[in-house]
Formats: sequence, structure tokens, C-alpha cells
Amino acid sequence: MIIDVVTLFPSMFSGVAGESILKRAQEQGQVKINLINLRDYSRDKHKKVDAPPYGGGPGMVIMAEPVFDAVEDLRKKGREDSFLVLLTPGGVRFDQTLAQELSKQKGLILLCGHYEGFDERVSQGLSPLEVSIGDYVLTGGEIPAMVLLDSVSRLVPGVLGSKESLLEESFTSGALEYPQYTRPQEVRGLKVPEVLVSGDHEKVAEWREEKSKERTEERRPDLAAKKKSKKQFRQL
Ligand code: ADE
Repeated sequence: MIIDVVTLFPSMFSGVAGESILKRAQEQGQVKINLINLRDYSRDKHKKVDAPPYGGGPGMVIMAEPVFDAVEDLRKKGREDSFLVLLTPGGVRFDQTLAQELSKQKGLILLCGHYEGFDERVSQGLSPLEVSIGDYVLTGGEIPAMVLLDSVSRLVPGVLGSKESLLEESFTSGALEYPQYTRPQEVRGLKVPEVLVSGDHEKVAEWREEKSKERTEERRPDLAAKKKSKKQFRQL
């Protein structure tokens, strides 16, 4: 999958794209992350890409033309089928289901806003899917784009090893993860639950399911309710 990121701050992505699983995915050729500096598409001699909003008000708005030009250029370079996403707090809420949908795309073009966002004609002219990573406002779309590209990349076939993908399965089930423990068996008087060292795989699996359910009901009653209603639906 090719992920093109159109941003005013390409250097913000070097850490995320250059480490760990994303680094490996790029080395193995499963994911390619291509950073595009929106300033390169400025039509202004000072490389400006923003201007004050019509009608007045605080801040600056990103002009539509450089964004149109950047996307058109990408389309010409073989990204005809890439799915366009614009990161904005006003978009649809990002979740694991949307990550899974996006991971099936051939390519993604991520548009990162800044300041007071994009000129509305970007949305009118390019019809991107507008996506928010949560109900809070960040200084720009770069961190949301990193969240999206990280969570989507790990779902691209082959990116995760078999051990890692098992974790993925339990998360996709719609419940929170059960607690994990590792060596040593006792830390500052805190012991590993007896069942986990019992060697009884069936009991371990039961305990984990129970803990996962308990946690989900306590911390994310919304998820627990969603899961129950799904189950009922399936029985119909
Ligand atoms: N830009 C600023 N805040 C954002 C958010 N929560 N999601 C997506 N893009 C954003």
C-alpha cells in the first residue's frame, strides 16, 4: 500500500515512519510512506499556502489551489485509485472498523490541515472522506495522520508477524485486552494470578475471557453494549 501524506510539516513523520513495525513494513515493501510538502505547490513567491478567512475571524485558512495541485500531481503519478482522506476534528470518528476498511485500499492520500483548516472548496472539489481521531482539537492533522497510518499499516497483510497478529484478533473482537504479566512472579509483593502459572490452558483461557469482559464492562460500557447487541442480532 502506498500512503501519500500531504503536509506542511513532513519532518514530523520521520520518527513514526522510521522506527519499529512501520520501518520494517517499508523495508519489506508492504507499505510505502511518501511525504509531500504542501509548500512545494504554493503559487506564491514566498511559498505561502494560507490566507485570512473571508468574513473575518481568527487564524489562517489553507488555500484550496495548492491542495488541488498536490492531489492532481499524485493522481498523475499513478495514484488514480488512492483513497483520499482529510484529517479534521469535524470528520467521522476513526475506529478499528474504519482502519480495517482503509487497509483494503490500494493506496491512501492523507491531507493534513493546520491553522483554521482547509478552504471548504477542498472538500467540495475533491470529496475526501473527512476523518477525526477523537473529540479533541489538536494543532494540526499531522498527529491524526500518524495515528491513521500506523493503525492502517499494521492491518496490511504481511506487516505483522504471526505472534503480533494474534493480539490483533483479540482486539478486533470488540472487547478490551485482558491483563498481561511477565517475569518475575512477584514484584513488590504483587503476585502473578495463580491460574496463569497453573499450566492449565483451559483455565487460563477462561480467566482471560472473564477479565476481558470485566474490564470492558467497567471501562467501556459503550463497547460492552455494542457487543451484546451484535450477539443478539446474530441469533435472530
Ligand atoms: N486536526 C485537529 N484535531 C483533529 C482531530 N481530533 N482529528 C483529526 N484531525 C484533527
